[in-house]
Amino acid sequence: KMPERVKIVEVGPRDGLQNESARVPVAVKVELIERLAKAGLPVVEAGAFVSPKWVPQMADSAEVFRTLQKRPGTTYSTLIPNLRGLEAAIAAGVSEIAVFVSASEGFSLKNIACSRAESLARLRDVCDLAITRGIRVRGYVSCIAGCPYDGEVPPSEVAVMARELLAMGCYEVSLGDTIGVGTAAQIRNVIGEVTTTIPRERIAMHFHDTYGQGIANVLASIEEGIATFDSSVAGLGGCPYAPGASGNIATEDLLYLLHGLGISTGADLQAVAETGGWISDILGRRNESRAGRALLAQ
Ligand code: HMG
Ligand code: MG
Repeated sequence: KMPERVKIVEVGPRDGLQNESARVPVAVKVELIERLAKAGLPVVEAGAFVSPKWVPQMADSAEVFRTLQKRPGTTYSTLIPNLRGLEAAIAAGVSEIAVFVSASEGFSLKNIACSRAESLARLRDVCDLAITRGIRVRGYVSCIAGCPYDGEVPPSEVAVMARELLAMGCYEVSLGDTIGVGTAAQIRNVIGEVTTTIPRERIAMHFHDTYGQGIANVLASIEEGIATFDSSVAGLGGCPYAPGASGNIATEDLLYLLHGLGISTGADLQAVAETGGWISDILGRRNESRAGRALLAQ
């Protein structure tokens, strides 16, 4: 029972650029987001209202968000760690946010300087205020297949955190293999555990490609009935608090897989590939999308 349609959440402008050492000008970020939206990607995570002391790359997110020419029908989301971030996002006029927790204690402490329990308490207030203001909230659970600090992460912990996020009002939970260590068997196992109590329609998968397993893990997830995936143009990124982790699966590679399976996405692969080539050149980095490199070489 393959889905006929898959929703892609493009996270390059956030998960990608948060890990770039070079300073990326606002105008480049804005052009990147606008090109991705124009290419037909339905959701673009456009920035993060996190502490600039922690992630300086995202410090200009309010300016990016305000400058952006928003297309009707595209959702522009931003990552929010606390009430302070939400207030800044409200002032910038966001209509959707994403909150994040970790399935492991170690990553929670390193990434947001608090325990999982504290983060849940904090995010309940964030969700309450957001929902009161008519802002939709998406949730992330990190380290679903392993933690850089704690090692193995039991799937039951992933399920607990996902349920907590849904209970506080998230409409969808994205399960992140933050360090890209998961294999297809392990991912099937996590999805199996989580979907014993959560409907598949509420689950998205978020793969990093550190061990080259991302596309295989997407296929395994599709076979488990998952129909929403996060990806990053040109495979940009990593996570500043997950040393050695590489970028997300590349949006171009994901589109190539899905379209090859006859699954519709609404996105134009060629346009995404051109955007991937363009941003890689600007950043002076290698284009990490294999499909993107192949298409651009033609
Ligand atoms: P803290 O140091 O415990 O908190 O950080 P604090 O309240 O003491 O704040 C420190 C400073 O930041 C203060 O400034 C605050 O005012 C300021 P000072 O008084 O020293 O001048 N501050 C803020 N400024 C702007 N916006 C805010 C904000 N909050 C505080 N919202 C905190 C706690 C949560 C703030 C910090 O740890 C943080 O921002 N962490 C974010 C880290 C991050 O962005 N990581 C990457 C995203 S997660 C990820 O990539 C995984 C994901 O992709 C899924 C996956 O792959 O698994 C989503
Ligand atoms: Mg990520």
